[in-house]
Amino acid sequence: MNDLFLRTALGEKVERPPVWLMRQAGRILPQYRAIRNNLSGFKELVETPSLAAEVTIQPVDELGVDAAIIFSDILVIPEAMGLTYELIEKKGPWFPKTIQNKADIEKLEKGEVAAEKLKYVFDAVQITQKELNNRVPLIGFSGAPWTLLSYMIEGSGSKTFSKAKKFLYSEPQLAHLLLEKITDTVIAYLKLKINAGVDLVQIFDSWAGILSPEQYRTFALPYISKICNEIDEVPKTVFAKGAWFVLEDLGKLNCNVLGLDWNMTPQYNREIVGGQKVFQGNLDPCQLYATTDEIKKQTIKMLDSFGSKHIANLGHGVYPDTPLESVKCFVDTVKNYQYPLK
Ligand code: CP3
Repeated sequence: MNDLFLRTALGEKVERPPVWLMRQAGRILPQYRAIRNNLSGFKELVETPSLAAEVTIQPVDELGVDAAIIFSDILVIPEAMGLTYELIEKKGPWFPKTIQNKADIEKLEKGEVAAEKLKYVFDAVQITQKELNNRVPLIGFSGAPWTLLSYMIEGSGSKTFSKAKKFLYSEPQLAHLLLEKITDTVIAYLKLKINAGVDLVQIFDSWAGILSPEQYRTFALPYISKICNEIDEVPKTVFAKGAWFVLEDLGKLNCNVLGLDWNMTPQYNREIVGGQKVFQGNLDPCQLYATTDEIKKQTIKMLDSFGSKHIANLGHGVYPDTPLESVKCFVDTVKNYQYPLK
């Protein structure tokens, strides 16, 4: 088994950094587009375990990455709790029904009762592990409670998520009630995913960067912290995008890996967080629009600046129109890199 990714996540000394990309399974791959074009939509792919397993493994075959991430979406949790989502072509996620008041929150299912509805995800994990046959570890994931709340209130993507933020300011008690229900569901969901066979879990707090430090400490961190404390079966990664302003707090979480976006330098992170955590990231996804010579140069520069305790990745998901050759150049540059002998 290529367990470089897991050994690195656990803080072991390794010969080179492992590499994978957020959103590696998706439109950058012609094999993905071929399957997707034959289906009614994204949800059919997510909800058909054999197909979800197939697209999960595609980047391992095509790109040679050191980890697979189960093909799914963070929005399956709101759906399991009672808010169905749609994915509108070229627009993104949309919820026909959103959370407006206390009665809406009380109606939501939570914990195991909600999480058990996502059997198609657990089946996909089992099929993937069987088909991967230990070639690389499999990552499971969930949205963080704040990011999930923001979709459940806002009902769609947004530049500002001002409806979701308004809810925190105007209805703090209801916000906590909802965050608690989401947190219970995330914990139950991750445990079921781990039972099904994932080797590490990553928590995506994609909208961390739009909160103030005080709001983040009140409405986001305590819930992530609870999830980290309840999950101890596998290593954990927390990726709170744009959360440089609470870095010290993130450094104290009970997790192995911190995901970094491209706004933060590894040096600054080490200074604040100290030596314990492994870092994951953080090349700007737009860097992959440069020439391959430049991609190679910038990737090596990034690897040098992280040094050890590093999982190479982008600072956010790869954009769907990134040339496949550029993605391969990024992966190959990492795989040919060697830490200097000390
Ligand atoms: O390869 C992987 O990383 C695994 C798959 C994965 C998807 N979504 C597939 C997907 C993962 C880890 C996610 C997480 C996710 N989903 C997040 C957190 C990570 C992040 O990007 O910040 C968020 C915020 C979502 C919500 C979501 N789902 C949006 C905003 C969109 C539409 C935008 C887009 O990229 O098209 C989706 C749909 C989605 N999720 C697609 C994929 C491959 C596109 C579906 C398609 O049209 O084929």
